[in-house]
Amino acid sequence: MLDPDIVYLNHGSFGACPRSVIDAQQAHRDRIEADAMRFYIYDLWKGIDRSRSALGELINADAEDLVFVSNATSAVATVIANIDLKPGDEIIVNRFEYPACINNLRRACEQSGAKLVVADLPWDPTDEDSAIDAIMSKVTDRTRLVMFSLITSATAVRLPVERLIQELSAKGVETLLDAAHGPGCVAMDIKAWAPTYCTGNAHKWLCAPKGCAFLYVRRDKQDGFRPLVLSNDAYDLEPAIERSGRSAFNHEFDYMGTDDRTAIMTVADAIGALGSFFDGGIDELMRRNRAMCLEARDLLCDAFGTKPMVPDSMLGPLAVVDIPAPGLNPRELRERLMSAYRIEAMIVPNPGGDTPMIRVSPQVYNSMEQYRYAADAIGAIIGL
Ligand SMILES: Cc1ncc(COP(=O)(O)O)c(C=O)c1O
Repeated sequence: MLDPDIVYLNHGSFGACPRSVIDAQQAHRDRIEADAMRFYIYDLWKGIDRSRSALGELINADAEDLVFVSNATSAVATVIANIDLKPGDEIIVNRFEYPACINNLRRACEQSGAKLVVADLPWDPTDEDSAIDAIMSKVTDRTRLVMFSLITSATAVRLPVERLIQELSAKGVETLLDAAHGPGCVAMDIKAWAPTYCTGNAHKWLCAPKGCAFLYVRRDKQDGFRPLVLSNDAYDLEPAIERSGRSAFNHEFDYMGTDDRTAIMTVADAIGALGSFFDGGIDELMRRNRAMCLEARDLLCDAFGTKPMVPDSMLGPLAVVDIPAPGLNPRELRERLMSAYRIEAMIVPNPGGDTPMIRVSPQVYNSMEQYRYAADAIGAIIGL
């Protein structure tokens, strides 16, 4: 459904959905309007269960340990609202966590007297150890929680989360894995990784409709873990969960007031659609996207005479490429690409200098021809 007049190169921020997925969502919406009572009492719950199972299989999590919220930001806000922070407690983030997620932790710290500690993660780590050391060196006996991304947003680094979770868990520290770029983006294995909490967007790399993220809470933390918004059964849960056949955790998150949750009900369709493009299913799709990312990065680096920023081993299907135009405002470059060339691209500031960078994040609808066009367009703008 992408506008054919636009070269859309920013799947990493907001991507397009296959039409079949949007059609599946519309079918749910039609059912709401046909018989809303039936929808909210029966269909909604079944649809959420279907998505929960499909997603659990994809990311290797027990389905019952997953609930759905509108986006990764809401999931982070929900997690922190469920942690009883005390004055002096410490929460560690790093300077490349997503601003909205940091902001929710920051407010919780301000309200409780806890301290937000920001680790100085190198923006272009040369190896896994440098990323791990930057975070682990901030851990103290007051550390309650550490939040880190599977793939950082502005710098596109695939962090060594397996080792981080292992080392933090060994110290008794809780972990919040922000896998906004997670399902459908890179392989995930929640059971093997065993974070305390994890969120991931379905509306990014799974191409589910907008407004759909999961929240995983490890089984031992689910007792008393509640959504930000309480619904009808909140103070009389026992009979309600007996009726619905769900855990209290699932029951409370599955219905949080009348809302359009059709995006969530469509996750199973999105997984099916993405899995149908290639014989090797979503694994092959992820491999192809990463391969195109590396090829596009190399093409842009060659065109601009710059070097790759991070080792390939620390990249998924996203990478940033430096643009040798000191002082050029990233927003201005993005707007010129759109107005003069109809290119929608993510342009971010280089944290290590005053140049802009382009972030590549190819999805199945992108082609190398589009990246060649973007390289020429940027070259023309900066006078290469
Ligand atoms: C690492 C990371 N975390 C969180 C988010 C926020 O996602 P959402 O807008 O769905 O809440 C993003 C969005 O790009 C992200 O890249």
